[in-house]
Amino acid sequence: MKKLFSGVQPTGTITLGNYIGAFTQFTALQNDYECVFCIVDQHAITMPQDPEQLRKHIRSLAALYLAVGIDPEKSVLFVQSEVPAHAQAGWIMQCISSIGELERMTQFKDKSDGKDSVSAALLTYPPLMAADILIYQTDIVPVGDDQKQHIELTRDLAERFNKRYGEVLTIPEIQLPKSGARIKSLQEPTKKMSKSDPNQKATIRILDTPKEIEKKVKSAMTDSEGIVAYDPTNKPGVSNLLSIESALTDVSIETLVQKYDGKGYGDFKASVAQVIIEHFAPIQARYEQLINSSELDDILDRGAEKANVLAKATLAKMEDAMGLGRRRQ
Ligand code: TYM
Repeated sequence: MKKLFSGVQPTGTITLGNYIGAFTQFTALQNDYECVFCIVDQHAITMPQDPEQLRKHIRSLAALYLAVGIDPEKSVLFVQSEVPAHAQAGWIMQCISSIGELERMTQFKDKSDGKDSVSAALLTYPPLMAADILIYQTDIVPVGDDQKQHIELTRDLAERFNKRYGEVLTIPEIQLPKSGARIKSLQEPTKKMSKSDPNQKATIRILDTPKEIEKKVKSAMTDSEGIVAYDPTNKPGVSNLLSIESALTDVSIETLVQKYDGKGYGDFKASVAQVIIEHFAPIQARYEQLINSSELDDILDRGAEKANVLAKATLAKMEDAMGLGRRRQ
């Protein structure tokens, strides 16, 4: 079976963007691949985090992975900092990265823009992400569109490693969702919907109440035309809502546009909100059962155990190929 790896940062409750861009792919692909899913807490600390909040978010994210349908009998689910090989292989990846290529990453530019000082790890985040993927000899990485550049760098680093030290690492492919690879902010629909957006109205979160979802969709930025049509350049707000409904229902955008023919934005928004509420209701119910259970800890313990075995095996090959450490005489 081919191998799949993906990770999500525990930096806040996951959004509709994360759900559509990443989680829907995880559940759809988990029967066809050997899957490893990670809560990347070491990536989260590249920006300042409150320790209490971080720990809460790690647990909450673990419960959400399971609540959306990740089956721990089939897939490995674990917390990154519980598998030291990630940081060890991350160091190796830093050693074969150049500062120039890391400075060219758009996420580094965005996150450091206008700041007097950022952590060195914000720059070296992509080599750690490459390590996450490469130590599982991953074939595919399901992610949203915003991670494209990081996956391209991962491929470059893997190729560079193999060229210098021999064929050790599998070169991974990116896997984007059919629709909804970049869900936009509800308030600024030219920007991506982001977990860390300070504007609460911009982001729908998977644990939002039906009332909150209704309110946020109702106040979503659209235009004054009053016609439901798909045109991301001229009607980014309406197009974003159409993409959301299409991704959640698997109904084509074309069919949705026909469904809303002659309807105003009021009806359109009420209907999109309803689709989201109904989609999230069973996930929220499962989440409530899991969040305070010891079952969740057992699953993460088992996940870390399995991930450690897999990751250590590749790390040992990498270190051996590079001449690190000793060989017994
Ligand atoms: P993160 O935590 O920002 O996002 C998690 C996943 O959600 C996707 N995503 C979106 N998809 C569609 N529309 C959006 N608005 C949207 N916002 C986020 C992301 O593309 C991602 O798939 N660097 C990664 C975490 C990471 C990782 C990895 C991922 C670390 N190591 C190894 C894959 C493999 C990140 O910050 O994702």
